[in-house]
Amino acid sequence: MEFRVNEGSAAAFATEVLVVPVVQGDAPSGVAAEIDGAAGGFLADAMTRGEFKGKKGDLLAVSGPAGVAARRVVYAGVGEADKLTPEALRRAAGGVGRALARSRYRQAAVAPLRPDSAYGPVSAAAGAGAWVEGIALGTYRFDAYKTQDEDREPEVLDAVTLLLPSGADVGAAQKGVETAQALVEGTRLAIDLTNHPSAVVTPTRLAAEAERIAEEFRMQVEVLDADRMREMGMGGMLGVAQGSAEPPRFIVLTHKGAEGAPVVLVGKSITFDSGGISIKPSAGMEEMKGDMAGGAAVLGTMLACGRLGLPLHVVGILPAAENMPSGTAQNPGDILKTMSGITVEVINTDAEGRLVLADGLDYGRKLEPRALLDIATLTGACIVALGNQAIGMMGNDEALKHTLTEVGQETGERVWELPLWDEYYDSIKSDVADIKNTGGRAGGTITAGCFLAKFAGDAPWVHLDIASTAWTDKPGDYLPKGGTGVGVRLMTGLLMRLATG
Ligand code: BES
Ligand code: MN
Ligand code: ZN
Repeated sequence: MEFRVNEGSAAAFATEVLVVPVVQGDAPSGVAAEIDGAAGGFLADAMTRGEFKGKKGDLLAVSGPAGVAARRVVYAGVGEADKLTPEALRRAAGGVGRALARSRYRQAAVAPLRPDSAYGPVSAAAGAGAWVEGIALGTYRFDAYKTQDEDREPEVLDAVTLLLPSGADVGAAQKGVETAQALVEGTRLAIDLTNHPSAVVTPTRLAAEAERIAEEFRMQVEVLDADRMREMGMGGMLGVAQGSAEPPRFIVLTHKGAEGAPVVLVGKSITFDSGGISIKPSAGMEEMKGDMAGGAAVLGTMLACGRLGLPLHVVGILPAAENMPSGTAQNPGDILKTMSGITVEVINTDAEGRLVLADGLDYGRKLEPRALLDIATLTGACIVALGNQAIGMMGNDEALKHTLTEVGQETGERVWELPLWDEYYDSIKSDVADIKNTGGRAGGTITAGCFLAKFAGDAPWVHLDIASTAWTDKPGDYLPKGGTGVGVRLMTGLLMRLATG
C-alpha cells in the first residue's frame, strides 16, 4: 500500500473515493461543510436528523456527487473536537481502512479537517502518520495458512493520498508518512512472527529473521548456539532450553547509527511456553506460541530503526528458547547459575521468561548502555492488574520511565508504572540459592520485576510487561485479532527521541 501527500482542493481531487473526516456535532464544519455544500448536502441533512453524529465509526457514503471530482464520498466520524489526538485519528482511520478494503476500492484520498489545518489540533506529521498507521494496520490480515479462496481477501487498497490544505507543511506531513510506514512495517513483522505457529517460528527462525534484517540494513548480527552459551555460562538460557528438541539461540543485532553508549533492547523470545515440567493447563495453551512477542517487538523495532536510518547506537538482544517438559527438562528445585554469577532456585519451570532474561539483561548491562530496556510477555498477573489497556512498567530510571510514559500516550501503546519497593524483594529470597524464580501469587508482576532488577544492576533500566497487550481475542479499532505487535511503536518512538534529544 502506497501513501502520498498532496496539497490543494479536496473537492477537485480526482479519485475513486474521497474520505472526508467529520468532527462530532449537530452540523458539518470545516472541510466537511465545504465538500457537503458542493456534494448535495446529504451530510448536513443526516446530522440534523441525528442519523450521523460524527462519532468514531460513523460512516456515510454518497455516490457520484456533483460538485466533487471523486466518484464517491465517504464521510467518516472522528469523534469530539476536544478529544482529537493522534490515537483518536488512528482509531477512526482503522475503521475507515477496513470499510474501504471491504468495498474493494483500489485508491482513496483523505480530505483535511479544516481549511487552515489538516488534522485540527494534531500536527501535520502526527496526523498524517496516524492515518497511515490506522489504515495500514487496520487492513492487516494474517492468512498465510488459508487455502480456501473465500477466506483470503485480496489486499485491495493500493494507494492512499493524504490531502492537505494549500499552504500546509507538506514536508512535515511527508516525514510523518515515512515514519509511520517504518513503524507499520516493523509492527507487521512483529505481528506476523507472533501469529505464526511455534513449529515455524523457532529460535533458529528468529535468528534467520535477525540475519535478514542485518543484511538489508547493514547491521551486525551475532548468533550464539548452546555450546557458546555454555562457554559463557548462560545457565538461565540453558536451563529453560534443555527440555526441548529445538536448539536455543542467543541473538544480538547491532545498528551502529552513531558512536557512543548503546541503547539495548532485550526481548523475551520463548517460541513456545508449555510451562515445562510445571505444565500449563491445556485450555488456551495455543496462545503461548506468542510468548516470543517481546523478541518480535525488538526485531520490529530494529527493522524500523534501520528503515529510518536512526543516528543512534542500538543493540537488540533475543534470548530465544522453547520451554518444554521432557526427560531432559529442568525440574522444580533445580538450581541454575546465570551468566551474572547469581544462582537461581527454579521453584516453577513456568517462570521461564525471567530465566532467559537474566542472561539477556546481564549481556546488555555489560555493554554499558545509556538505556537498557526489556520487553516480555512475563506474567499472567499483569493481565489481572492492568487488563488489555496498558503495558506494565517498572524500572530504576525516572527519566526513561517519564519519556516512555509520554511516548506511550502519543503512540497509543500506553504504559502504567508499578512499584519496585525494597519490601517486595523479600518474596524472591531462597533458602538454598541466591534467589528463587517465583515470588508467589501476590504482586506477581512486581516480584518478577524485582527478579529482573538483580540482573540489570546499575544500568538505567526499564522493564515492560506486555503479557496483557501482546495478544488480543477481539479486534481493536486498528489492531487485528491475535498478535498486536505491541512495543514496536513505543520503543521506536523512544529511540527517535533519544536520537534527536
Ligand atoms: N508466558 C507466561 C506469562 C503469560 C501468561 C503471558 C498468559 C501471556 C498470557 C509466563 O512464562 C508464565 O508462565 N508466568 C507465570 C509465572 C508464575 C509461574 C510465577 C504466570 O504468570 O503464571
Ligand atoms: Mn511460563
Ligand atoms: Zn512464558
